[in-house]
Amino acid sequence: MAKITILPLERTIKAADGVTIMEAAHEHGLYWPTTCGGQGLCTSCACSVEAGAENLAPMGRGELTTLAAELGEAAVRKRGLRLACQARVQGDVTVVKRGVRPAEALTFE
Ligand code: FES
Repeated sequence: MAKITILPLERTIKAADGVTIMEAAHEHGLYWPTTCGGQGLCTSCACSVEAGAENLAPMGRGELTTLAAELGEAAVRKRGLRLACQARVQGDVTVVKRGVRPAEALTFE
């Protein structure tokens, strides 16, 4: 079981090995920004990996293609960006993503 710490929310969640960061966030009732619904196409879910990058499964060709098309490959590597909908956890990791919040905060009365 891995731990994912999400900043600036300052929330740490547990995740089964092999699930994506976004899947783990959803399992814990968190909203994670997305436009494509987690298909690896939009980069809305992109997060910066602050610690534990080695504990994520290597970036696949599709993830790199999507990120590089939007931001350029050099910027992606320099900023340690990963797509939360594609990056699978294999150990503890800390990521930075603005806009992540409890899903119930989206309901209106
Ligand atoms: S949610 Fe669209 S690329 Fe991850």
